[in-house]
Amino acid sequence: MSSERSGQEVELQVGDAVLKVRSGEMLMDICEHHQTCVMFSCRSASCGTCAIVVEQGMENLSPMDGLEAIVVEEVSEGRPNVRLACQVRILGSACVRPLP
Ligand code: FES
Repeated sequence: MSSERSGQEVELQVGDAVLKVRSGEMLMDICEHHQTCVMFSCRSASCGTCAIVVEQGMENLSPMDGLEAIVVEEVSEGRPNVRLACQVRILGSACVRPLP
């Protein structure tokens, strides 16, 4: 659970880009707006295209639901800290990068 409140400015690193964003925003919306390197397709936790690795701040992301967990298990190939950018809400500072 993040101690940072919705609407606060937080720092988000996506690949090499360091962004100032508002907590509560969807990661995919942020990536699209800032034209970062995260790719996407369905936006509904079914294709797995938007998989990312969370390098820091996993505790500052919205919780994973069951549908996301199923897709993450398929695409992560056992790698830890994988999430789907289209399902994640940023609640505090974090550092993510596209799944290699
Ligand atoms: S864009 Fe398809 S799972 Fe996120």
